[in-house]
Amino acid sequence: MYYEIGKNFYLLRSKEKDFHRNIYLKKFDNKDGTTLNMIFDPGTKLDMKDLLPFLNETIGGIKNIHIVFLSHQDPDLTANAPVVLQSAPGSILITSLDTWRLVKMYGIPEHRVKTIESFNSFTVKFKKSGQTIKFIPAKYCHFRGAAMVYDYESRILFTGDFFGGVDTRKGDGIYATEESWEGIKLFHQLYMPTNKAMKTAIEAISMLNPFPEIIAPQHGDVIKGDLVAEFMTRLMDLPVGIDIIETATTDADLVIVGLNNFFELISVNFPDVFNKMLDHFKGHADFTTPFEIKNGRITQVKISPDTALLQVADFLDSIDDEDIKISLKGILSDSLDQVGVNFSFGKEVKKKDHKSVDMDNIFDI
Ligand SMILES: [Fe+2]
Ligand SMILES: [Fe+2]
Repeated sequence: MYYEIGKNFYLLRSKEKDFHRNIYLKKFDNKDGTTLNMIFDPGTKLDMKDLLPFLNETIGGIKNIHIVFLSHQDPDLTANAPVVLQSAPGSILITSLDTWRLVKMYGIPEHRVKTIESFNSFTVKFKKSGQTIKFIPAKYCHFRGAAMVYDYESRILFTGDFFGGVDTRKGDGIYATEESWEGIKLFHQLYMPTNKAMKTAIEAISMLNPFPEIIAPQHGDVIKGDLVAEFMTRLMDLPVGIDIIETATTDADLVIVGLNNFFELISVNFPDVFNKMLDHFKGHADFTTPFEIKNGRITQVKISPDTALLQVADFLDSIDDEDIKISLKGILSDSLDQVGVNFSFGKEVKKKDHKSVDMDNIFDI
């Protein structure tokens, strides 16, 4: 199932319920009746079973792709680049110099690549269609060489991970609503390094003339209408990444960041324990739940941070497998340590030399 979100601009959305990938395709109509076909962030092997029929229906097959654009180097969007380039022998890859430096490790030959920096004013005018696209660097959003693409014909701005989100909107469909904001906020707080980088990228978007009607990110919902300007404004002021660590003034802020880092790590490395832990903390009646948890991440600590940490420690202590228990205690300790909450096993929890809680008997290893 795919969607046309603007003139000849298609979206293929993967089916995960919590965090999915978006692959986009633009068909530029040439004056001679042919088309020039450009794919944006072609996804991973997991997408192939849907991507191939999608390309068959829209452009007559993968072989007819002419341009592969990569917003940055992450495998969730680049893994399919080599196979697309091989299947479409006449195609080229367009990406930033910084991204190329890394994706060349896939063994893509240099003569198949053009960097966005090689185009005058980052702009390409396609001779056969007369259409124009512009590349817009989104430096450090979240990668140094991240880049966006503006398609003037459809007034769609493809933004890569920028404006992406985990899925917090309920129901079907592809377009963002107010409910999408929570997931966008969460994703940016986790992945974007600093608000300053986002501000710079948003200022660059504001300069586009005409102003984009649609923002098409690589994850989450497609943003259109008033929400384009609205979410731009909100991101302008959102502390993310290092900002959160730097501006966190209370134990609670730091404990939330530390615990979310811990959640992130164990969700990948110990998914069974992670799910058990989520159930454990969600299982309480609302008012006794120590945390407010949305999409597997803590958004608020409802009790004193020290007591909340004790509850996490209690949970870890209830794990039967000794090896896993020891590993998780180590990961928790490191995650808290990174944000300045010292977690000394069997001793105490300290935040920057003040306030401590006795942790004896919790971690008696
Ligand atoms: Fe990424
Ligand atoms: Fe991504």
